[in-house]
Amino acid sequence: MTGEALFPGPHFSRVNGDLHLGGVKLSDLAEKYGTPLYVYDFDRIRSRARHLAKELHAVNERSRAFFAVKALSNLSALKALHSEGLGMDVVSGGEIERCLATGINARDIVFSGVAKSRDEISLGVRVGIGCFNIESPHEVDLLIASLGQAGKKARVALRINPDVDGKTHEKINTGLAETKFGLNPTLAMTVARKILQHPCLILSGVSSHIGSQIFDLQTFRDAGHEVREFAKNLLELGAPIDHIDMGGGLGVAHRPGELDNAPTFKAWVDAVKTSLPNRDTALHLEPGRSIVADSGVLLTRVIEVKSGDSKKFALVDAGMTELLRPALYDAYHRIEHVARETTDNDQRYDVVGPVCETSCWLGEDEPLPGLSSGDVLAILTSGAYGMTMASNYNTRAKPAELAIEQSSVRLIRKQETLSSLWELERF
Ligand SMILES: Cc1ncc(COP(=O)(O)O)c(C=O)c1O
Repeated sequence: MTGEALFPGPHFSRVNGDLHLGGVKLSDLAEKYGTPLYVYDFDRIRSRARHLAKELHAVNERSRAFFAVKALSNLSALKALHSEGLGMDVVSGGEIERCLATGINARDIVFSGVAKSRDEISLGVRVGIGCFNIESPHEVDLLIASLGQAGKKARVALRINPDVDGKTHEKINTGLAETKFGLNPTLAMTVARKILQHPCLILSGVSSHIGSQIFDLQTFRDAGHEVREFAKNLLELGAPIDHIDMGGGLGVAHRPGELDNAPTFKAWVDAVKTSLPNRDTALHLEPGRSIVADSGVLLTRVIEVKSGDSKKFALVDAGMTELLRPALYDAYHRIEHVARETTDNDQRYDVVGPVCETSCWLGEDEPLPGLSSGDVLAILTSGAYGMTMASNYNTRAKPAELAIEQSSVRLIRKQETLSSLWELERF
C-alpha cells in the first residue's frame, strides 16, 4: 500500500483519497460494522508500549510502566498491553476484575484511586494486588483490617500531593493542594509512621500523579523534586522504599501544529527520573493517554447537514454519549472525511451529535469537504478516554469496537443491544 503519512502519525494514510488506519480502509469498516464505531490500531498501541518500556529500562532494569486502565479498558487492549510487559494501574474494584478477566496476575496491578471502598480494598487483598497507592489515612485502616482478617501482607506506596500546577485543563489538573488527590507531605508523614508500625504493611514506594494531557515537562520535574525529598525522609525513617511511581499524564498532540511540541517518551522519562532518591530505585509510570490516544478513531456518519443563521451544522450519529471529551473539557479532536481530503477551500461545519444537550458537539468550525447525508467522518485521537467514558444517556447503545492488527480486523466488542439497557430494570 502506498500513500502519504498523515496526522497524527504514519499509521494513518490516504490511498486514492481513502483514509486508512493500520492499512485498512476505514469506509469499508463503517459499511460493514455500522456507525458509530471505535477502531484501534493495535500495532500502534504495542509499539508505543514497547517504546516507553525501552526508555524505562534505560533507567534501570526494574523500572516499569503500568497502563492506566481507565484510558482504554477493552479486554483485548489490556491483553495486548500486558503481553508487551506492561503492568496495569487500576482505580476501582471493577477495573481489578477487568484485569483478572483478561488473565492478568494481580501482582502486576497497582491499585491507585481516591476513595477506595472497604469492599474494593478487601478484593485487592484477596487477590493479592502488587501495590496499593494510598491516598488517605482511612485507606490504611481499611487495609490493616482486611489484611488482619486474611493473615496477609501488602506492599503500599504513599501518593503525595506535591502542590504543583500541571498547567493543563483545570478539570484534569490533579497535583494542586486544592484538589482532592493524594496526601499533603505533612499528613503523608503521619500516615507513613503509622504504616511503618504495622508488620502487615510494607512501605515500598512514593507516588504522585499531577494530571493529564501535560506538555510542560518542568511540572514533572517540580513534582519529582517533592517526591524525592519525601522519599529520602522515608528512607531515613527506615522505610524499604524500592520504587517511585510518577503517575501518568504525558500529553498528546491533537492538532498537526502540536506535533513538534509534544514531549517524547525519552524526554518524559528524563524529567521524571529526577524523582529517584537512588540510582537503583525503580521508576514506575502509569501512562494511559500517551499509549493509546492516537491509535484510535471514532467513525460517525452524517445524518444531515443543516444551515443555521450563521453556521452550517453537520448532524452526525455520534455525540457526547460516544465521545464525552469535547463536552466535558472543551477538548479538540481533528476530524477527517474518510473518503475525501480536507483542502484550504473547504467549508466549515460545527459537527454536532444527536443528544439533547447544547454541549453535545464533536467539532466546532471544522474545515471539511462539502458534506452530505451518509458521509462518514473519522474523529481522530479518540483511543483514550473515548469508549471508557461512553454512556447510555438518551437510551443510546454504546458502539462496537474493532482492533486492527497486522492489517486484519477483529471485533473486540459488539455494539450493545437496546434491550440490554433495561434488562436490569423492574416494574
Ligand atoms: C492515578 C492516575 N494514574 C494515571 C493516570 C493516567 O493519566 P494519562 O492518561 O494522562 O496518562 C490517571 C488519569 O487521570 C490517574 O488518575
